This record gives sequence, structure tokens and C-alpha cells, in this order.
Amino acid sequence: MPAPPPPPSISLSILLLRTSISRALGLDSSTPKHQPPIITHLRVPGTGKIGANLGKKTAALPAGCGIVAVKEGDKFRTAFLDAVQSEMEDLIKANHSVKSFQVTRQTYESNFGKIGYDDSNSGILDKRKKKKKTKKDKDGKEIIEPEVDPMTDILNVVYVPGVYFGVAAGPVCATTGEIETLTVSRGERDSMVVLGRDCSVTVSFTAGGLDAPAAAVLGEEEINKVNLKEDGAAYPAEPSLGKHGSALNDQFSKPPTPPPVSDVTSGIEKASIDPNAEMVVNPWDVAGEIDYNKLIEKFGSQEIDIPLLLRIESAIRKIGKVTTLHPWIRRSIFFSHRDMNKILDCVESGKPFYLYTGRGPSSAAMHLGHLVPFMMTRWLQEAFDVPLVVQMTDDEKFLWKGVYNDGDDNLDHYRGLTIENAKDIIACGFIKEKTFLFSDCEYVGSMYPNIVRIWKSVTYSTAKAMFGFEGHSNIGQSAFPAIQAAPSFPSSFPVVLDAGRDSKMACLIPCAIDQDPYFRMTRDVAHKLTPKDHPLGGKPALFHSKFFPPLQGATGKMSSSDDSSAIFLTDDGEEIARKIKSYAYSGGQETSKLQKEKGANLEMDVSYQWLRFFLDDDAELEKIGKDYGSGSGEFWATGMVKNRLIGILQEMVKEHQERRSKVTNEVVGEWMEERKLSF
Ligand code: TRP
Repeated sequence: MPAPPPPPSISLSILLLRTSISRALGLDSSTPKHQPPIITHLRVPGTGKIGANLGKKTAALPAGCGIVAVKEGDKFRTAFLDAVQSEMEDLIKANHSVKSFQVTRQTYESNFGKIGYDDSNSGILDKRKKKKKTKKDKDGKEIIEPEVDPMTDILNVVYVPGVYFGVAAGPVCATTGEIETLTVSRGERDSMVVLGRDCSVTVSFTAGGLDAPAAAVLGEEEINKVNLKEDGAAYPAEPSLGKHGSALNDQFSKPPTPPPVSDVTSGIEKASIDPNAEMVVNPWDVAGEIDYNKLIEKFGSQEIDIPLLLRIESAIRKIGKVTTLHPWIRRSIFFSHRDMNKILDCVESGKPFYLYTGRGPSSAAMHLGHLVPFMMTRWLQEAFDVPLVVQMTDDEKFLWKGVYNDGDDNLDHYRGLTIENAKDIIACGFIKEKTFLFSDCEYVGSMYPNIVRIWKSVTYSTAKAMFGFEGHSNIGQSAFPAIQAAPSFPSSFPVVLDAGRDSKMACLIPCAIDQDPYFRMTRDVAHKLTPKDHPLGGKPALFHSKFFPPLQGATGKMSSSDDSSAIFLTDDGEEIARKIKSYAYSGGQETSKLQKEKGANLEMDVSYQWLRFFLDDDAELEKIGKDYGSGSGEFWATGMVKNRLIGILQEMVKEHQERRSKVTNEVVGEWMEERKLSF
């Protein structure tokens, strides 16, 4: 027999705690999908303990992030419990009204999917999963657990718009205010945070309002009206980073400054000029208002969250080449990943990995946006002290943009651009003995056996579905994804990485998120090209960036064919100043009077967003944000912010040009020579 349900205020308290834990850890908590599975142990009325398993299933926190904070007085533990407490108090103070439903399991599942349940008060494990394990009683006899009949099994579903949706332990009270008090217990045994391999959190609590009655219960018809997607309040896809993410982070390690909350939900990308434009993100097109949270969901990648950030930081500190995280990681400019945790596992266990990135040389003039993945890759190479291969896809650009005119085509034009672009890439400052640049046209032979294997493993209908090939696509285009995939396997570099077919070297690919489709395909076939005991099952790991916003406003990505949308690496100081002054979209107000009153819209403001990329000093960035956002202080207006940006870019581009001028064709030849890298 299931235990009787707890008092309504306790059932609701459990939900608020669950929400608060999620928020404190920076997870979206308002839909069942994102809530961590929670196991509750209720003790005397009014107190309880809840254990949240934040493991893989929620895809929210990476496994093995190495934080163990059990002891009373531990800084992280204190900060975490403070954050949970304050989130709970906010929820009670806000006195949210609560909708309570009783519906069959079948109704719930058909509306909202098979998401973890609260079964009586024993937690939210799905009974049917539990049932599979046969339990034995003391005498060794099997305990037969009752079958769950989805038609007759009744669930208590709770909906607090914008806060929580999911199944509760029992009937709940009508408003969050009725809980009156909800306190986390601080004793050493009461609460713990173990973000280690199994990522779990345990919090004991005491709740008040035990006499509060249960809310009126709504039935099947009402729940059918709940549409989480349409109810903006209930389905925010919102704070990936709760307001306490920052508090926690501060406690943890000084350098990583958390991204501002706005960054995660609606950063630069949302400053769309045309909010109605449809979001398109694929290797050839980026358009519309880009919602990066949706992209993570759509692509099925993982958010780079605080625990991962901390894990990266601790790994690089151990290696000792760099001491602080790159600002783009701290500021969520690199925001999504696949299997980064496994790369860190490799690092920790001394297994080798290499970096792979690339560039399609479509024009001689590279712009600032093009540098983003390379600057990150440069940092990763230094921080992890690993080899790097850089693919120049002159073949890709010819297949998509090439022309045949007057008895000749322009394939050689793209091969030439490879050399020009290679100069800019080399000028980013990679470690020469650890870096191999190659043009597909030149190097393809060494990769060819792997290319053939990939061709054999992907059907045309899969490629069509993934890349949208059509009847008029040329056959080179449909063959190309295998060529971008091949460098993900060490055996494509028999000399450079000294790798045979049995190589277990792992691969990490930093790239803009639009390149992900290529690597989804790669990951699907990876097991066919790598040994069984490869640490990532042969799959390359990925580290995804957001797009660098164009000058005129943050829709889509910067284009090299539109001169006024970009700062080119060949622009001189004056040109840079002119472009920023005349084109950089301003989020400031129309008049100084209004600006002083209201302050600027930082998300819309391209200059401020560019500063997030190129102003490393966190304190100054924060000051500029504060001044400009409020219309007061040194940086109160657009002009000052633009001037600061102009100064930074002029210096950066000038230094780049100086470094590039030293890269002659001969130097490029040295970097592109097939040779064993040192690692
Ligand atoms: N297709 C990419 C482009 O058009 C170039 C590229 C090849 C690449 N391999 C890559 C980019 C690996 C990132 C990672 O720019």
C-alpha cells in the first residue's frame, strides 16, 4: 500500500524546493523535462529530505564534474543552500496561485509525455521502471509489485505558471504563500551537494502551513487546456541561469564571472531587427532571430553550464599553461557542447586528444567573426597543450560558390584563398610544432580511405534529410560532408598524428553552432571508423559558439559579402572608426534626455555586444554595462561606448596585421607540410 499523502503544504513545499534547487544550479525548472528526478523522504510532519539526482537523464548537468561539497561551512555548500533558501522565499513571497489537477496517468502521458512521476510520496521514479527489478523480501521471496494501470492510476498534477509543472506527492495547497515558512536545514548530515559522478543534491527542510487545506482539484478537461508552449509564463525556456548562478560561481572560484542572466535567455542573438523572421541555422544559412536555447534543444547538444565551466577550469589549472578560463567560456559565447565531459575524463586519465577546426576560404578578407573559433581554438591548444589540425575546405567553397566561365572554372581561385586565409589563421598565434593546416585539394589522399568508409556508411536519404540536398545539388555537394567529417578521426592523419586505424586518440572540435549538422552525421558513423575501446566511442566532441553579430543588428551572422556589415582584418584604424560610428546598431535612446532617463537596451546594442567579445576586463565590461544601461556615469551614452570599442578594435586589428605581415608564403608552406606534430 502506498503511504498516505503528506499535508498539502508539504507536497507543495517539495515542488518549490525542487524548483529552487534547479534555479540555484542554473537549470530551467519550469517544465518536467528539465526538472531533475527527485526522491523524497518525508519524516515527521513538516520536515523532509529531498534528494535530487541531476544526472545524465536530465541532460542538464554533466556527470563527473568533480565538485563534492558535503561539509558544513564549505563555501560552495553554504552558497548553494543560501541560494536555495532565497529562491524558496521568493516563491513563497510571490504567493503564486497553484492549479491542481487529478488525472489518469494516461491523460498525463498523452499530453505531456512520459516524464518522471511522484508516486505517492516516495519520489518521482516511474513505477513501471522500478517494477522491472524484482525485489526480494527478508526471506528471499519475490515481492510482486502491483502493475500500474495507466487508466486507473491517478496522478496529482500541479501547475504554477512560470514556476513549475509536473507531478506532486499528493494534493497541494492553493497558493505558495500558504506554506508560510520553508527552511533548509544546515546541519552536516542534513544537506549535501555532490556534483561528482552522479551529480546529486540532498536538502533537508522544514515547512510550515501544515493546516492549510488542499486546493480545489481540476479534472481532465482543464488539464487539456494547459498548453505549456503557448503559455509564455509557463514555458519560458527561460532562465538557464537562475539569478543565483552568479552567487554560486563567486563562491567557487574567483575568475569565472558568470554571464549576465540576459545573456543566456536573450543575448545578442535576440536583438533582432525583424523578430518575425524564421530561425534558420545550417552550414549554409543563418537567418532570423536565433534562440540559442532552442538550438540546443533542437540539435540535442548540451549547455555549457557552471559545473562544466568549473571542471574545465580545474583541468586547465592542473595543466598549468593558463590560469583562468577564457572570457568567451565565462560569458557563454561558447555555450553548447557534446561530450566535453569525456574529453575532460581523457585529460584526467592522461589519454591524448587533438583539436580539429576549419575554414571555408570564400574570400580573401576575413572579418572579425571568422576569428572567433580560431581565437578560442588557440586558447584551447595552449590551455590543454594539444595538437591541432585545421582543414581549409577550398573544395567546399568551389562546390557551392564556384563558377565555370569562358572555358575555365575558378577552383584555383579557392585554392589560392586557402593560402591567404591560412596567413590570418597562423597570425592568431598557434603553436607551430603542434599545428597542421591543410587544404582539402592537397591533402585529401591521406584521408581518402576514411572518406570512403564514411561514404559507405551514410545513405543518400540520410544526407538529404540532414543537409537538404535536392535534385539540382551537384554530386560533389552530397559527397562533401564526408570530407568535413574525416578529420574527426585520428587515422586521417597517419603521419601528422602518427595514428593508425587502432588509434584511440580523442578529437575535440571548436566551431560555430551552424557546423553541427556535419558532426552529428560524423558521430553517427564514428563507431565504424574507430576501435571499440575508443574513450568516446570514436565520436568527436564539440564545443559550440554563438554567432558574432553583424554591425547592423544582431540577426544572423556577419557576412563577408556585405562590406558594411563587418570589420575586416584588413581595415585600417580610420575605416574601423567610420564603420562603428556609422553602422553599429545602437540600443541607446533617441535623445540624451531619454537616454539619461531610461538607459540603453544592451541586448540590442551591437557595440556593447562586441565589447562582450573583445573587452577581456570583466570589471570594466560590467561598469560599461551599468553606466550605459542606466544612462549615467562615464559611459552613459552610445558615443562613449563606441569610442571604447573603436579603441579596442583598432589595437587588436593592428596587432593582427603586424603578425600577419610576417607570415610569408614560405611560412604558410611550413605550417601546411605533412609532418609529425610534437605532442
Ligand atoms: N565548413 C566550414 C566553413 O565553411 C569549414 C570547416 C571545415 C570547419 N571543417 C571544419 C569549421 C571543422 C569548423 C570545424 O567555414
